[in-house]
Formats: sequence, structure tokens, C-alpha cells
Amino acid sequence: MRYYNTLIETIGDTPLVKLNSVNKGIKGTILVKVEYFNPGNSVKDRIALKMVEDAEKEGLLKPGGTIIEGTSGNTGMGLALVAQAKGYKCVFTLADKQSQEKIDILRAVGAEVIVCPTNVPPEDPRSYYSVAKQLNKDIPNSFYPNQYDNTSNTAAHYESTGPEIWRDTAGKITHYAAGMGTGGTICGTSKYLKEQNSKVESVAIDSYGSVFKKYKETGVFDEQEIYPYLTEGIGEDILPKNVNFDMIDHIVKVTDKDGAVMARRLSREEGLFIGWSCGSAVHGALEFAKENLKEDDVMVILLPDHGTRYLGKVYNDNWMKDHGFLESRKFATAKDIIESRNGSAELKTIQQDLKVGEAIVTMNQNGIDQVPVVNAKGEFVGSLNDTKVLKSLLENPEIKNSPVSEIMDAPFQFVGMDNTVDVLSSLIRKHASALLVRDENNQVHIVTQSDLLMAISAN
Ligand SMILES: Cc1ncc(COP(=O)(O)O)c(C=O)c1O
Repeated sequence: MRYYNTLIETIGDTPLVKLNSVNKGIKGTILVKVEYFNPGNSVKDRIALKMVEDAEKEGLLKPGGTIIEGTSGNTGMGLALVAQAKGYKCVFTLADKQSQEKIDILRAVGAEVIVCPTNVPPEDPRSYYSVAKQLNKDIPNSFYPNQYDNTSNTAAHYESTGPEIWRDTAGKITHYAAGMGTGGTICGTSKYLKEQNSKVESVAIDSYGSVFKKYKETGVFDEQEIYPYLTEGIGEDILPKNVNFDMIDHIVKVTDKDGAVMARRLSREEGLFIGWSCGSAVHGALEFAKENLKEDDVMVILLPDHGTRYLGKVYNDNWMKDHGFLESRKFATAKDIIESRNGSAELKTIQQDLKVGEAIVTMNQNGIDQVPVVNAKGEFVGSLNDTKVLKSLLENPEIKNSPVSEIMDAPFQFVGMDNTVDVLSSLIRKHASALLVRDENNQVHIVTQSDLLMAISAN
């Protein structure tokens, strides 16, 4: 029989997958290590197991104990799975910028979750760092792994992630890239790879609003660098003990938007439904690769987690638009449609007292299927479309001798020239089969459903 005794035995040994689309035009072989294949759907399962097992060995965690951690959600998930397998309780503190999905998932696997304010300094008693520390003091027989300073974090990657990458690239890896938060993933893995081949270059992906890049390049912990940002998991406003800058050759900063947009591209173009910081890692690594990689280089980029944790954000079009991360499609306006007619002919109208039969002839001769109806003063008093005419004639063929005013519908609505196609199509759907607009020379133009179709298809 081939089975695992517990789920946590399936942690690690995640696959390397070749990128084929988002890296078009960039030299070298670009591979991604897909960590959502771990049971907790993130790279953090590795450190969760290592931190708990080391604590058990050091007697810091005893049977029936409580694990307390400050986490962006992924470490919490990993710890919850390890705790479930080993019979421990879990209490996690999270910053309120983390997605609701992450909070719900932790509660689903039995953890108690305490949400703390994001925009308070780390030392503030309300921060998720401080609350976790305090709970560790208050709850007897509790263990606070503290992934930021617990070196079992780096050790987990030195003992598993690094060796797996070296083995699966048959030692051909030249560049390793990963996001940095606690620093364990980039530093632990790089330490192992550099011990195998000191020429391996490691590229850390940081976020705007984080202290890392400036500190690496100047040695200055610059508070000015710190400001709120949205990307989850990478960047920091502290210097965790797991960050060993000697293991990092380059740091590339990535904006929230670039990370989010690349995450969506990876899902759409590579089928990799991954998390936000994965998008940041690939965007930053490819920026670096564009300038530095040679044809026979092999780069491995680590993708920490899964897209399901970002359904309400990165993978939600409205959320993306609201944050200016998604170009709302530039729809043509009524003005564009009129101008694209390059000097359109005068608007066709029919008089309200014209016989229906004559109106049909006029419409056919002009190849139009809807037309505004005007009175003698030229005022718009109604509208006529071929569907309505056909229906009226079928009900009463004699109607062809009656004035149009007898079967006409309400006048087409006037709308502004700056309305875009998406707005115009909702108006057309609601009101009538066409709309009217008045240009700057007070000339009236008609906008029909087929105009909108042309404009959208041309877009
Ligand atoms: C989604 C995500 N990406 C990247 C990272 C960074 O990994 P590390 O903490 O090992 O530097 C984390 C860490 O929490 C994470 O949750």
C-alpha cells in the first residue's frame, strides 16, 4: 500500500515547472518552484513543521500545548496542520490587511484567530507581533515559534527547499529568486545552493514600503522607507533575525500593482493560479533576468502560495479597478462613434403623420431599422423600429394606412457625447433600440446597437 500516515508527511518535494509565456523574449531557462503543492498550499508548511519539531526536541513544546504565532496567514495554516497532526491548539494573530479568505481558512482548520491593526508600529501593544508575544506570556504551556527570529525557519529551507532545487536542476541552477518577508525562504535556500556552487546568485524580491533594499545597499534602517502597502507576505518594517544579507546578492523592489498584474498573467497564461507575492516574485525576477540572464542560465523562482487566498483582491476585477491596478477597458465614447463615421450624413427622421406604409419604404431605402419620429416643428416626439412595425402589421395589416404616430414608441433618449460604450449599451438595453446625442454644433446623431457592436469589436 502507498500512503502517508499523516498529512504533514506530504510537506515538501514540490515540483519545478518551466515558464513558457510570461518570460517571452527573456534569455535563459526560467523555472518556478510551485509551493502550493504543499498540504497547506504554501511554502510555510516547511517552516511550521521544522519549528514545531525543533521546539519539541528542545522541550519548548509539551503535549497538549498551545502554539501562538503572528502570521500573514500561511505560516498559521502550516502550523495549524502540524498542530492538528500532533494534538496541539493554535492561536494566531494577523494584521487586518490580510485577506478574509486567510482568516476563514485558519478558523476552518480549528485555529483561534485574533485580527490586529496593520498600521501600528511593531512595538505597539496592539500590533500582531506584540499581541502574540503577550498571549505567549498569558497562556500556560504555550509555544511562540516567532517565525521572524526563529532560525528553524532558515534551517527548514536549508534542509529541504535548497536540496530539492539543487537535485531537480541537476546542479545547473545559476540564479535563485524569492520574495522576502522573514527572509527564511531566500536566505536558507541560498545558503545551501551557494554551498554547492558559490557562483549561484540570489535575487530577493521586496516591496515598496519595506526597509530591506535600502538596508542591504546602505546599511541604513531608514524609517522613511516604511509606509503601508497591500502586497501580502513580502517586505517588512523590521529586520528579522532570519534575514542574512550575505546570502542575498540583489534585491528588487516590486509595486503592489505589478505583483497583482503578474499574478493574474501567470494564472491566465501559465495556468498557475498563485498568490499575490508569487506575482511579485516573477515580475521582479524577470526584470532582473531581462538585464542579466544569458542563454544557458537556469533561474529558479519560488512561488510561495495559492490564488484562492486572494479571490477577493487580486482575482476580483472590481477590487483591482478600485485600486487602479486594472486598466478599466478604454471603451469608445459616443463622440468617438460619431467621429468614426467621418462626417456622418444628416440624421434620418420621419414625420409623425407619415403613413406607416410610407415609413417602411423610407426605412428600407435608407437601410435603417429604427428611426426617430418628429413633429412638424422638428421636435422628437417618438421612435419607430422594424420589430414594432412588423408586430403592428401582423396584428392589423390595415395599420399601414395609419399615421406613424399611432404605433410609435417613446422618443429615443438623449445622452451625453462622453458616455462610453459600456454605459451606452446598458442605456440601450434599458430604454430603446437606439439613443440620440447632440454634438458641439447642436447637430443630432443616432447611436444604435450595431454602432456599439462595431465599437466594442474594434476595441
Ligand atoms: C505569501 C508569502 N509570500 C512570501 C513570503 C516570504 O517568505 P519568507 O517569510 O520566507 O521570507 C511569505 C511569508 O510569510 C508569504 O506568506
